[in-house]
Amino acid sequence: MERRDVRGLLQAGLRRFRGGREEGHAPGDRQARVVAIAARKGGVGKTTTAVNLAAALVEAGQSVFLADLDPQGHVASALREVARPGPVPLSEVLLADRPRDVLDAAIESGLPGLWLTAPDKGLGDAESRLTGRVGRETILQAAMATARTRYDTILLDCPPMLGNLTLNALLAADAVLVPCDMSILALEGVADLLDLVVTVRERLRHPLDVLGVLRTRVDGRNKSLNDEVGQALADNFGDLLLDTVIPVNSALAAAQSAGQSIFAFRPRSAGADAYRALAAEMGRRLG
Ligand SMILES: Nc1ncnc2c1ncn2[C@@H]1O[C@H](COP(=O)(O)OP(=O)(O)O)[C@@H](O)[C@H]1O
Ligand SMILES: [Mg+2]
Repeated sequence: MERRDVRGLLQAGLRRFRGGREEGHAPGDRQARVVAIAARKGGVGKTTTAVNLAAALVEAGQSVFLADLDPQGHVASALREVARPGPVPLSEVLLADRPRDVLDAAIESGLPGLWLTAPDKGLGDAESRLTGRVGRETILQAAMATARTRYDTILLDCPPMLGNLTLNALLAADAVLVPCDMSILALEGVADLLDLVVTVRERLRHPLDVLGVLRTRVDGRNKSLNDEVGQALADNFGDLLLDTVIPVNSALAAAQSAGQSIFAFRPRSAGADAYRALAAEMGRRLG
């Protein structure tokens, strides 16, 4: 190798070694509760829950940051009436050479009190590129230190697999909320997720709470399925089951298609009432 090349390489390496942190964000005076919304299955209502729980908390006067860790970007489409484009995608924060702040990716939405991340297809790439990086599980945790002082609640909407992105969310969170629709497959997914919670606690030494298992898309008319799955849920998860139940409610699906929260779309609906109740139960459980 030529001498000049060696010098160039050294300089690049030392620049990273010597350089200080990026210009920081000013800390606030809040102490956020951070909740990851995760399940090892798609279509169980993770995003519907993330979006409408965030909106319910904002309605109750909180300042909320909702980060979308799913490359599908459904949070921004479900809230496209208030979502705004942002300069820094979340994947850039996760993949940066030097520690970055998640606040770089937080954008104030059109709903006062609610901050979002932009839809980010790069998260798909981040999922695989994180593999093999030293300390990859705690990148988001480290990037959230200042954000924790700026919001009352931070919600992390996870992709439907238990990979690097979900692991980052669990390590950044104080508690995990696990939506489960009334299907056997979803039940298995909950068991896998709780298994991962144990790994996070014991092997990665992060004191992650389970906020609870949330029954979603419960169809009151399908009594035999409800009884069967309901019994299995009660037997297996006991007091981890939340009292709040989210019913099948066509207004929830229609609100998502319209790009609005249920509170903007149909504030007096069974779906809106259920998510208000969830926000209140979450407050009680987190103390
Ligand atoms: N309680 C509900 N009632 C009716 N439709 C629902 C309900 N919850 C979710 N949906 C619909 O089901 C689909 C999947 O929900 P979503 O929240 O995107 O799931 P996930 O994020 O777990 O993949 C969406 O079209 C959504 O509108
Ligand atoms: Mg989703």
